[in-house]
Amino acid sequence: MNPSRRTLLVFFLPAIALLLILESLLLPNPRERNFELLTEMVYSKAAESLGASDGLPAGMTQQAIVEGVVVRGRMPFHFAAGQEEAARAGKELSNPYADDGDVLERGGELFGRFCAVCHGHDGGGRGPVVERGMLPPPSLSGARALAIADGEMFHIVTMGQGNMGSHAAQIVPDDRWKVIRYIRSLQEPAR
Ligand code: HEC
Repeated sequence: MNPSRRTLLVFFLPAIALLLILESLLLPNPRERNFELLTEMVYSKAAESLGASDGLPAGMTQQAIVEGVVVRGRMPFHFAAGQEEAARAGKELSNPYADDGDVLERGGELFGRFCAVCHGHDGGGRGPVVERGMLPPPSLSGARALAIADGEMFHIVTMGQGNMGSHAAQIVPDDRWKVIRYIRSLQEPAR
């Protein structure tokens, strides 16, 4: 047998046969496109966040936060309700935000959304809710509000005070500080 024929028999024919076998295994229907190998990696089974889970503790996807963990973006707040605690917050906390354009813009937006209904857009205490009969809150430019420290105001917004409820669920801590900066800008004319 001449060498080129032998190469054909020993190498190419088995290689072609192997390719044909592979092709028939991989593409049972060669007219179908996009045969996908290892599809579990492409389409992984997504777990629903509130669903049951076989593999996780307590049989749930959602796991309880480990004790002592501080959720990212949340500032721990070690104050109880009440005036004494508010005064303590006034001494121990300070506003991390400076009096800057973006801060005032965000603070003003939130004040308009969450506070102006009662306090009025100018903070004077005559918002639409008051116009309809609710007892007016004190002016945010009044003597007391001018004397309240930022930290105490943060406590009032977080825990509430008297007739005013807590706004902790509506406004994240960072934004609460911005609202307080905005109130300071409303107080300018009264200073
Ligand atoms: C449902 C009406 C209402 C809303 C909404 C409201 N407040 Fe008040 N706020 C009051 C009332 C009423 C008081 C007086 C509470 C008291 O001392 O009895 C008050 C008191 C305050 C005080 C203390 C003023 C002082 O002189 O003691 C601050 C500061 C304050 N609010 C800020 C805010 C901010 C900031 C928001 C928005 C995030 C807000 N409030 C939303 C009704 C409201």
